[in-house]
Amino acid sequence: MLEDALSQKLEKRKQESLLRSLITTSGLTDFYSNDYLGLARSEELYQQIQNTVQNLPHQNGATGSRLLSGNNAYTESVEQQLATVFAGERALIFNSGYTANLAVLSALPQRGDSILYDERAHTCMKDGARLSLAQHFSFRHNDLNDLEQKLKKASGQIFLAVESIYSMDGDECPLTDLVTLAEKYNANIVLDEAHSTGAYGKNGSGLACAVSLQHKIPVRIYTFGKAMGIHGACIVGSEKIIQYLINFARPFIYTTALPPHSIASIACAFKFLSNTISLQNTLQSRINTFLVNSKSIAQRIESKSAIQTVLFPGNENARSAAHYLQQNRLDVRAILSPTVPEGSERLRVCLHTYNTDEEILTLCKAIKYLTTEKKQHLEHLD
Ligand SMILES: Cc1ncc(COP(=O)(O)O)c(C=O)c1O
Repeated sequence: MLEDALSQKLEKRKQESLLRSLITTSGLTDFYSNDYLGLARSEELYQQIQNTVQNLPHQNGATGSRLLSGNNAYTESVEQQLATVFAGERALIFNSGYTANLAVLSALPQRGDSILYDERAHTCMKDGARLSLAQHFSFRHNDLNDLEQKLKKASGQIFLAVESIYSMDGDECPLTDLVTLAEKYNANIVLDEAHSTGAYGKNGSGLACAVSLQHKIPVRIYTFGKAMGIHGACIVGSEKIIQYLINFARPFIYTTALPPHSIASIACAFKFLSNTISLQNTLQSRINTFLVNSKSIAQRIESKSAIQTVLFPGNENARSAAHYLQQNRLDVRAILSPTVPEGSERLRVCLHTYNTDEEILTLCKAIKYLTTEKKQHLEHLD
């Protein structure tokens, strides 16, 4: 029986304390959402989106795939704006970052080609690689020596799948060195800018643009559900790459396009950010507050971004650390294995423009307590 088979799998998860369930937001201090710049909660942006939608032809849904009834001049004009923001030849909007990554890695590499992906790359890159007919290998996180060994063995067109800012560790990829290595082996970098879109670069253009390497990276993926505070994503690349994706990327072809409201939200969010770009500095100042006050926390993974990680190995450890913080009105979430490798279970702290310095100080003190006194207390009880 289907229900019995599913029950067994769910029960196993439950016994391993890994059962996932949907939760509603808590009303505690937000140290867990991806709304780094506070755009998702901006009343001003909300009003600008409503006004823009009011002035568009009143239509609720896209009514079809972009290749059928779901395309219109407005969507194309927003794509042109995105191509300008991200300094690329052409941009193509996708319904989410997940489907954009899936599209790139499942459609561009062909049989006989090679995909090399960082072992910490997001699931959607790995899923895309699995769907592809190309062979695929992981390389050790940010380890260029390991990558070079694998590049030597790669065949066909080579695709290097990396993230600007890694979603679980918050650390940055060594983009300049990656570009040099990619050039040496004639490899094509696929850069997922999910956690840098908005937060880095002129007008929120991300890491590659911030360090002027965008022209060296054939495929860039930008997502709008994190620092941009809205939803959707786009792929930026040459006219040829975009044309190819329109023809061969199944996650683009076989789905209903985003509704006009979402397209308007994308246009408004980028316009809003270009007028409030100092939010990036405010975020940096919050990050600095965290870094200064968390120096003595030993189990931190080095990161300069809005994503900060404190290791609490073991699912129970990480879970109880998060629980302690939540009881103290600090909403930090535990990331458990198998989402992260066993032994690297952690607290993932997300910092935002709207977190006050006082809140960040309280958080640092509470984490210090968890990693020192409380830990000693618990060890003493063992
Ligand atoms: C690195 C990375 N890429 C892609 C995605 C997926 O983006 P979206 O939420 O727009 O589907 C995420 C979201 O969790 C992510 O962290």
